[in-house]
Amino acid sequence: MKETAWKSPSNIALIKYWGKYDVQIPANPSVSFTLSSSATSTRLKYRTGKGAVKVFLNGEETPAFIPKIQLFLERTRALFPFSQQMDFEVHTSNSFPHSSGIASSASGMSALALCMMSVKKELGLNIEDFFQEASNAARLGSGSGSRSVYGPLAAWGKHAEIEGSHDEFAVPFADVADIFKTFQDTILLIDKGEKTVSSSLGHGLMNNHPYASSRFAQAHENQSRLLTAMLDADLESFGEIVESEALTLHGMMMTSMPYFILMKPNTLEVIQRIWSFREATNHPVYFTLDAGANVHVLYPESHKEVIMRFIDTELRTFCKDSSYLCDQVGLGPTPLF
Ligand code: PMV
Repeated sequence: MKETAWKSPSNIALIKYWGKYDVQIPANPSVSFTLSSSATSTRLKYRTGKGAVKVFLNGEETPAFIPKIQLFLERTRALFPFSQQMDFEVHTSNSFPHSSGIASSASGMSALALCMMSVKKELGLNIEDFFQEASNAARLGSGSGSRSVYGPLAAWGKHAEIEGSHDEFAVPFADVADIFKTFQDTILLIDKGEKTVSSSLGHGLMNNHPYASSRFAQAHENQSRLLTAMLDADLESFGEIVESEALTLHGMMMTSMPYFILMKPNTLEVIQRIWSFREATNHPVYFTLDAGANVHVLYPESHKEVIMRFIDTELRTFCKDSSYLCDQVGLGPTPLF
């Protein structure tokens, strides 16, 4: 078999994508920090065949992942028409523990999309923009995965102030003050269990959501405000918008029908303590949440020592097994071949 391999990072949204229509078209634009350490490495082996798929996670055959990969191959058929005449082996591993509650779909789907692009290139097929097509393909596997293809930030979904922004692929975004290009993200692992409600189910509940249209309009506005704040290195406004986006995301979950809550008591404990610490010390430390209980603690690199001391003395005790992951803004995927 021939093979190709990519390592692709996870990302954390600052403006949240929550709600979609058609096949993975976002209901509102989003923008994210690309992460550095949290990543998926995927080796794709391929040969002429009939579309058979095998998946290996950490070296162990894992048939449970096959339907996801097959759906990805079906949805990306226009981009990768050769996939039906090939057999594939997907060998994948994550830098973060499987049980950490960190979603691997963005890093996993973007790594796979990049591998498929490398196969396409190897076959000599026409490629206009390698990473744009990879982002488009990743989107079809995992919406947020479209943003993992670029660093230090990426924007996905049409937005009036981001030139070239598009609903079908993310665009790289670096029009921010330098302080944001090395921002730290310490991920507090509050709950390592499987999510009780998947994000695809959650997205679906935005379809008949009573606040959907105002939420989608708000995301556009928040994105405009965030872009200005990041360009001006206005940390206070950055924090205000990012925290509001996180709580709005969870607010949408709580006001869906059926309603659900993914935060845990310790999520709220940690948020309160970040607020108290900020109030008392004026250090620029903020939080965001993804679709789960874990808390992403965001702060500039220049404050790393003091914030890490705060995390170790005050926040760590609220983490499952006292565990957290140290990450920071990264530059995007790397080929492994
Ligand atoms: O890409 P999905 O379908 O797993 O959805 C991701 C949704 C959030 O993580 C909550 C927000 C985002 O923009 O990443």
